[in-house]
Amino acid sequence: MKKLTIGSIQKRKHSLPLVMITAYDALFARLLSESADILLVGDSLNMSFGGNPDTLSTTMDQMIYHTNAVCKGASEVFVITDMPFGTYCDEKTALENAIRVYRETPSDAIKIEGGADKAHLVRHLTSNGIAVCGHIGLLPQAFRAEGGYKVKGKTEEETISLIADAQAIEKAGAFIIVIEGVKANVAERVAQSVSIPVIGIGAGNGVDGQVLVFSDMLGLYEPFVPKFVKQYMNGAAAVKEAINSYKNEVQSKEFPNENFIY
Ligand code: KIV
Repeated sequence: MKKLTIGSIQKRKHSLPLVMITAYDALFARLLSESADILLVGDSLNMSFGGNPDTLSTTMDQMIYHTNAVCKGASEVFVITDMPFGTYCDEKTALENAIRVYRETPSDAIKIEGGADKAHLVRHLTSNGIAVCGHIGLLPQAFRAEGGYKVKGKTEEETISLIADAQAIEKAGAFIIVIEGVKANVAERVAQSVSIPVIGIGAGNGVDGQVLVFSDMLGLYEPFVPKFVKQYMNGAAAVKEAINSYKNEVQSKEFPNENFIY
């Protein structure tokens, strides 16, 4: 599959839905790259990969390490790197950290969470040559401030505010927006209100594409399965079954038999 560009990603608005999946390492990036249009090195890696309860302790060094691994495994796929909590509080800090991503990795773009209140940061980044993916709706990095992970778009006021967020980010130069945890009919209205692609997660199918955390969609992450996640395989059971077979064969000395020795 030919690597997408910002131009070809934008042409997918109102067209074939974009397939975005998170990736954290070269091994899975290689596997996912056969079907994904875009790989997102999400700060969710701090949870499923790092074993932490939330994304807040993710660092720039971590994101750079994992982005390089993903890019090595999937050099033919468009890659977006998440900016961790606290790394884009003001224009100077945001630009310094985004420049680190571009200088230290081959990543194609960065993602920051926030709506109209972050439009000035999006403008500063895009006007300095950084491609920016917005992220509106449920903002995992704001869960403490908001008192939990809250689904958005439950009132007309919230709907109007989400539309204003998307439009402000688009005007500031973002080339794509992720919309998370938003009522499906509202996410559809938001997608219709802008001319850049809007990629949903827990936001229904009235948008221009979908993103899922790879370990969720492969059924590998057992502690919690969000309502919006479809598990396309029971990865945890498959892995446990394989490891258990290995254990049994090691203990019975069935492995390694003559096929597996020098
Ligand atoms: O960090 C992440 O994986 C994300 C997706 C949930 C969109 O931001």
